[in-house]
Amino acid sequence: MNYQIIPIKTIDSGYAGKLSFFEASWDVPFEIKRIYYIHGVPNEARRGGHAHISLRQILFCPYGKIEIILDDGHKRESILLDDPSKGLVIGPGLWREMIWHQENSVLCVAASEYYDAKDYIRDYDTFLQYVNEGKIHG
Ligand code: TYD
Repeated sequence: MNYQIIPIKTIDSGYAGKLSFFEASWDVPFEIKRIYYIHGVPNEARRGGHAHISLRQILFCPYGKIEIILDDGHKRESILLDDPSKGLVIGPGLWREMIWHQENSVLCVAASEYYDAKDYIRDYDTFLQYVNEGKIHG
């Protein structure tokens, strides 16, 4: 499946906590054009329910516990983001759903492109059509 779990470099400052960071191109395999984050979400809420045609993203959870369900049209896999130094790099063509397993968990995303509503596939049957016709750029 077109995703990769990567360790985010983390410096432990002992009693004063930890600092995590990544840099475009060498730590994540694309240039970053946009950052967004989802917050204020109640426990067990679900978001997502779409795929992207060409967008690449890295997802990470600096606080809390969020399950990411990825579907490539043939199978589904579930990844738990429960550690601020765990990064999930997602390529195009994956249907995703996100489930909040802890109130106020924060989902941060760094993306390869500016926001473009035309890059979204929001209907699952249309997504399957794209997959079967090989129309995902990836
Ligand atoms: P959406 O990607 O559908 O969120 P989720 O997958 O978490 O449910 O985005 C929600 C709304 O925010 C939608 O109206 C599009 C808008 N939006 C932007 O305007 N810019 C952005 O960078 C993003 C990610 C979303």
